[in-house]
Amino acid sequence: MAKLNRRQFIALGIGGAGIAVAGNWVRQKTIYSQPVPQSSANPAPVYQSSDGLLELDLEARERLVDLGNRQASLLTYNGQIPAPRLEARSGDKVRLHFTNNLEQPTNIHYHGLHIPLTGNADNVFLEIESGKKLTYEFQIPNNHPSGTFWYHPHLHGLVAEQLFGGLAGLFIVRGEDDEIPELKAAQEEFLVLQDFSINADGKRTNSAHMSLMMGREGELIAVNGRINPSIALIEGRGLRLRILNASPSRFYRLALEEHSFFQIATDGNSLSKPIEVDELLLTPGQRADVLVRGDKESGQYRLLNLPYDRGSMGMMGGGMMGGRGMMGRNNQDEPITLATVNYESAVESMALPSRLNSISALPKPQTVRRFELNHGMSPAVGMAFLINGEPYRHDIIHTQVKLNTIEDWELINTGVMDHPFHIHGNAFHIISRNGQPESLLALRDTVLVKRGETVRIRIPFRDFAGKTVYHCHVLDHEDLGMMGNLMIEA
Ligand code: C2O
Ligand code: CU
Ligand code: CU
Repeated sequence: MAKLNRRQFIALGIGGAGIAVAGNWVRQKTIYSQPVPQSSANPAPVYQSSDGLLELDLEARERLVDLGNRQASLLTYNGQIPAPRLEARSGDKVRLHFTNNLEQPTNIHYHGLHIPLTGNADNVFLEIESGKKLTYEFQIPNNHPSGTFWYHPHLHGLVAEQLFGGLAGLFIVRGEDDEIPELKAAQEEFLVLQDFSINADGKRTNSAHMSLMMGREGELIAVNGRINPSIALIEGRGLRLRILNASPSRFYRLALEEHSFFQIATDGNSLSKPIEVDELLLTPGQRADVLVRGDKESGQYRLLNLPYDRGSMGMMGGGMMGGRGMMGRNNQDEPITLATVNYESAVESMALPSRLNSISALPKPQTVRRFELNHGMSPAVGMAFLINGEPYRHDIIHTQVKLNTIEDWELINTGVMDHPFHIHGNAFHIISRNGQPESLLALRDTVLVKRGETVRIRIPFRDFAGKTVYHCHVLDHEDLGMMGNLMIEA
């Protein structure tokens, strides 16, 4: 093969299969699930690090995308819905040459990764104007857990709109979990859940004010950029599903007909052992890794999204606006089929790993703080979403903590809607809900605080000093003020 420069190489690589180049270049493969007939055929290319480096060009631009049964003009990274999956290992360097060809400014956040929060790393205060470029560069720490992370835009005020346009992709850290024999033996599939609001011409439609208050939801749900894709199990193998809720506001309450899930990870972090559950509730931002035993009759099983009520504007909307129907369709009454799992012959027995990761409880906190989540009128901005009675402001530090300390945060939802609370940069443990100790020891970066609930979390602020944010991951709430600046002081 003649020598190409990196740009030519990448241009050729997109859509091509199995091209691998040695050296410092990006190794790129297009992975389709096997076997091919009616498989989930995740069409997004995968970029994997090699020799300790993950380097690629990433361009944000609006593009006409084929969702399987229809075309839509969406906001994409490298023309793909979902965005290309990035895969690196702990200790790897990441160099991402980003070009913003959107009509708006944007930036990139690496959700859940424990990496520097300043400079050209996981810095949500960067603003890349339309037509401009920026190279993101950071190293994934050597002791970084393997897991399911993701990337998406994070420019305050435009976050919900840009995610709703489609800008989101997986960032997988490969490592110790991938070496566990039972996980290696399973068929690995990724599910990126996104919803869109598209009119007959394939154009994105604007959300009404009330649905922004509720958090916008689209009538079209895509899984890996497809409507109801099939996942065909390879004979004799169980399934390892790695699921991301990349919707700005929609909650997914997942169930697979006749099968339970064996959850092995919450957000990016593995549990100490698999936990059997019938349903998975994923708020925006959350991930779950689960194993599925294909041990039933051969056939097709629907992965369903069950109804979930995340609250409503109640008093404000109820009478005046004609009830919940207008508040953003958060209350569908019927299960919706998201994907279909099928297999020809039952897997006799799929071994579950007896042990995954050792998680130990954190020591007692040095500091306890409380954060009240609600919405209300704010003199400066009108109706806003508030933390401790205040909407987000760029120019102040809302919370200052010390590096290498542990804090408990009490998250109190006094409002009428659920709020999934997310902190950048450091994963945390849930200590209690409404005073009841949480029995599952797990690390998360996003926790659901239901209306009326008080959730206590314990956060270790490790390794990286600097300014970052915490916020509600219903991204309209975030854009409408439910965010705070967090300064981690060295
Ligand atoms: Cu995925 Cu600050 O968010
Ligand atoms: Cu995040
Ligand atoms: Cu919220």
